[in-house]
Formats: sequence, structure tokens, C-alpha cells
Amino acid sequence: GKPKILVTRAVFPDVIERLSREFDVESNQDDRIFTREELIARLQDKQGVFLNSSERMSAEVIAACPGLRAICNMAVGYNNIDVDAATRAGIPVTNTPDVLNETTADFAWALLMATARRVTESEHWLRAGQWKKWTYNGFLGADLHGSTLGIIGMGRIGQAVARRSLGFDMKVIYHNRSRCSPDIEARANNAQYVSKEELLRNADHVMLVLPYSPQTHHTIGAGELALMKPTATLVNVARGGIVDDKALIETLRAQRIAAAGLDVFENEPAFDPGFLELKNVVLTPHIASASEPTRRAMAECAAANLVAALSGKRPPNLLNPQAWKGAD
Ligand code: GLV
Ligand code: GLV
Repeated sequence: GKPKILVTRAVFPDVIERLSREFDVESNQDDRIFTREELIARLQDKQGVFLNSSERMSAEVIAACPGLRAICNMAVGYNNIDVDAATRAGIPVTNTPDVLNETTADFAWALLMATARRVTESEHWLRAGQWKKWTYNGFLGADLHGSTLGIIGMGRIGQAVARRSLGFDMKVIYHNRSRCSPDIEARANNAQYVSKEELLRNADHVMLVLPYSPQTHHTIGAGELALMKPTATLVNVARGGIVDDKALIETLRAQRIAAAGLDVFENEPAFDPGFLELKNVVLTPHIASASEPTRRAMAECAAANLVAALSGKRPPNLLNPQAWKGAD
């Protein structure tokens, strides 16, 4: 018969239909999040899993599912999967890069602009009926044009963010694990490579676009926040855990930086309620890739990876080539 797969969360019905042509599909269109035990139980007879970042494929879960032959994440980030454990078990792992670069960069700018210009804070005030008169100093924010944008993580999304800064006449500085080629720097609005400390000291707006890993845990903590300008904005569209949220809440409470725009949080969706007491923060529920065409493209990309992997064809977005035993 057909290979059996589990789709762990609700997804576009036509993607389920497409998968059903190739596989015996167990789906979860009710979208109740499985416990770890339920996930393991449902994966016992499955060869493939199509999952989201709400499911943790830890070494223990992987070891408990010996029939698994493909792990396909519908996300570019894959810190929910222990890729080393999957590689040791000979299981290919895939993600959905590239299809979301431009949409995520658009949203990074939406969050930066909303944060710097106090869009949501002033809207809450208006909705609360407090707008009685115009004032010369109401909701004064920071300018984007002519300012210095500091990008930490100059991968494909970081580069797409940088390209957009050209229209705002901004200077771009960046920090990355390794320096980008002169070609990439030129296309990224002539971005200048600097140390993390130099970036934090000089940027008017700091944008975090780096992947989460144990090495990037708390890339921004109390010490880093202390280096930032008191007028600076911090935006995180990358992952919870890259910022020390407790330290950020303290910093925002004391107004040691101007504001933060956050799409991701430690322990999301159970984020630190301390954020809700602050006015100088814009909070969104992990939606940077959420445009209709891009979420569709991500689902189709994850499906294409799963179909390839289970039919012995090298999946387009294979993260662990060491685990690939196929002919090509
Ligand atoms: C996991 O991938 C997360 O969303 O933090
Ligand atoms: C979204 O957070 C993703 O990693 O694609």
C-alpha cells in the first residue's frame, strides 16, 4: 500500500488532498496540539511526518519512532527538530527556505515602522477615546530615513531586509557568523560588516534575523541591551530565545532603549506577561511569514519534500545530506 504519513497540524485542505494521492494520510484538521505521548503514539505506524514548530522532534521522540523515514518541517527555522539525532537514525530532515524570504522581510519592515513610529500604541490610545486635541509632541517617534540599520544575521532574509532600506536612505551595518561576499554586501545596500558590539553601539534600529541554535541563545541579553543607544529600536522576527526576554522587559521598563517590536518570544505562545504592561513594545503572534501566497508556498514546499523523500528522490531542501541514502 501507500506509505503512511502524519500531518501534525491543520493545513490548507488542497495540500492534504495532494498528499493523499501519494500517501495514506492521518491529518489533524481540528488542529488540537498533540502531547509528546500522542505524537509518538500516532507516529508508530508512519513513515513520514509533516510538522510545524509546535511539535518537538527531540532525540527521544525520534528514537521512539523507528519506522520514520522523513521529517518535513513547514518552516524555515528547524530548532524544533534534533537534526543530529535524525541523522544518526538515518532520517532525512527538510525545511522550507527561500519561499518566505521576501514576505518575512516585508513584515520585518512593518514591525520596525510600527515600533519606531508608535503605530499600535497611538491606535490603542485613539480607540480608548483619548484623542481630544492634536499636540506638537504627541507620540514622537524615531526616524527611519537617514538612520543606521543594524542587521544581526545576514542570511537570505537579512539581505532582503537590507535591500529594502535603500528607499529610506539608510546606512546598513551587519553582523553575521562570517562576513558576506563583497557582491552580497553591495546588493544589501552596501552593508558594512562590523562586530556585534560595534553594531549595537551604532545602530539606530537593530533587526534580528538569525536562526536559533544553542550558540545563538540569548545573543541579545542585558549586556548587549546596555550597549544600545537610549533612542534605539530592537526588532526580532527570528526566534524566541535569541533575546533574553526578562532582560528586555527590564530594559524597556526602565526606558533604556526606546522600543521593541517582537514577532517571536521565549516559550511562545506562553510569552512573558511582563510585555503586556509595557507601552513601548509592539507584539505580534509569530506571523512574519503569514501572507496567503507564502503560507501556501511553504505548505507546498513541505509536501514536495515529503513526496520526494518517501519516493527515494533527494528532497529539494534536505538539511542533513549525511542521512540521505537514495540513488541521487
Ligand atoms: C520553534 O521552532 C519556535 O517556534 O521557536
Ligand atoms: C517561521 O517561523 C519559520 O521558521 O518558517
